[in-house]
Amino acid sequence: MFRAALLASLTASATASISCSGYEDCTTCTSQSHLLGEPSDDANSTLSTTLFGCRWCPQDNSCHKDGSLFNPCSSSESVSYFDVCPVPPEDYPGVPDFLPDWMANLMPVISDLTLLDLSLPGTHDTLTYDLSTTVSDAGIDDYDELSKILHLFSGLIPGQIEDFIRQQAKTQALSITQQLDNGVRFLDFRNMQESSGDWYSLHCLQSNNPSLTYLKEIRAWMDLHPSEIVVMWVSKHGDQNAVGDNAYPGVSAEDKQAYFAQLLDVFSGLVIDTAVSQPNSTSVSDLIARNHRLVPYVSDYAEFTGGSQYAMDGALVDNNLGSSVDGEEDAYNSEMAMFGSMKDLRAADKARNALYLRSMATSSPDFQVEAVAMMKFDPLANSDEQTAKCAQGFNIPSLTSWCPPTLNDIGQMAAYYKQLSLEEAYQKIDTDGWVFPNAFYIDALDYDGTIRSGSTLLNGLVREGGVEGKEKTRYAYADTVVGANVKLACRDRGEADADCAALTELVEARRAKYPAERWDDLKYGRSADWPV
Ligand SMILES: *[C@@H]1O[C@H](CO)[C@@H](O)[C@H](O)[C@H]1NC(C)=O
Ligand SMILES: *[C@@H]1O[C@H](CO)[C@@H](O)[C@H](O)[C@H]1NC(C)=O
Repeated sequence: MFRAALLASLTASATASISCSGYEDCTTCTSQSHLLGEPSDDANSTLSTTLFGCRWCPQDNSCHKDGSLFNPCSSSESVSYFDVCPVPPEDYPGVPDFLPDWMANLMPVISDLTLLDLSLPGTHDTLTYDLSTTVSDAGIDDYDELSKILHLFSGLIPGQIEDFIRQQAKTQALSITQQLDNGVRFLDFRNMQESSGDWYSLHCLQSNNPSLTYLKEIRAWMDLHPSEIVVMWVSKHGDQNAVGDNAYPGVSAEDKQAYFAQLLDVFSGLVIDTAVSQPNSTSVSDLIARNHRLVPYVSDYAEFTGGSQYAMDGALVDNNLGSSVDGEEDAYNSEMAMFGSMKDLRAADKARNALYLRSMATSSPDFQVEAVAMMKFDPLANSDEQTAKCAQGFNIPSLTSWCPPTLNDIGQMAAYYKQLSLEEAYQKIDTDGWVFPNAFYIDALDYDGTIRSGSTLLNGLVREGGVEGKEKTRYAYADTVVGANVKLACRDRGEADADCAALTELVEARRAKYPAERWDDLKYGRSADWPV
């Protein structure tokens, strides 16, 4: 009955005529086409998906009807889904200052420190900016709700379900090169061998390109930035302890090691040799002089690398997940407790060569995935009820009438709250002797090393009715982490140290461009006086 209603509704909307001219940007063009047959005539229907829509052509910057002869883009060049629209050029004006070579810039004060004395800005699910609509052979078993929805709707509406899953799996919009340019030095590199035999990155879905493509991009960037060290955690799904078949179901040790050999080949001459260098005892300047600048922490180490001296055991990532986006009050408290005891936690980790990683990231909670799927695909769903149920699930007092439709929406809302604990902990480096973890990972990285706390999505999709002037607000994430390194390195050097004075001034000027900012946006769940 459910499927019959869905099909009837689909057929009705597919016959509605569509005009694609007049949509002047990618997100408007593609979201109109794939959400609505004819925006005005179907306003009350919860099922509004159509097979026939509009596509955005980046070549002529125009919106074209599906199959139009006037579209200069081929179907693979056209953008069909709003979530893969590129970041608008006005929001990414080019390579930022300072951050592409921040280690080089800090060298006067950090050269004698070891890698495990530093804090690195990182990204969560680093490669998800480039997900395809092909479900990974590793499946989406860790996501019960997404798995259910895929099985319920798969095949019925080609591409639509997969795109819906992508909207719940994408955490980033900037490319790997852009992330590195924006100060990121800890990469959450997830990969899996697909049935073709090739390795791809994944988050429920496969990446568009094989993993090797992204590895080569990292290599090319590192060649251009000869004083930068990059830590790359290689895993299937961010599990530091999984080994063998639990880590990579159905993949043989031989295939893992063949792939690892390819990885080493890409970074030939650039990888740490643990027979010579160690993250906890070799100085940063020696790592750079020896060109031991790529430090892979590889999960399933024994089978994946065969015990290679050119990798650290991924089990040495001290992976601390923190709390979820539906408990921001607890998250704040646990983050403060973590920062407050970080000095001891890091000392204990350093003694065993472990890297303390703190997640400030989130995934799509089941209650949100279910509500959004119902509203999108079930013609009988009651939108008001689903929206209210979803909104309340987040436990944010002001959030009552909005259900974040995508993981990017959730990540940006979470970024609004993450800035609070990051900023407070940063201030306490001076007042209370706090330190930052060795690495963070986080969602929604934005231009100039920021995280986006406003409600307009990174790819330009505007959420209507937010607080004016706050839609693209950003917080200085990377500079705050870099600033923590300056503070730590300068603690013993004293106020008279000229390098410390210059770097402190520089970093604080950069941070001041994107300060922690609070406002009340009752529609989109940003509160000026909650949870603290
Ligand atoms: C949409 O719903 C509202 C309120 O339920 C109703 O007044 C209106 O006529 C409906 N519009 C259409 C086009 O069915
Ligand atoms: C570095 O880690 C090793 C364990 O791999 C440990 O034996 C050594 O003492 C540590 N060195 C420092 C300086 O903490």
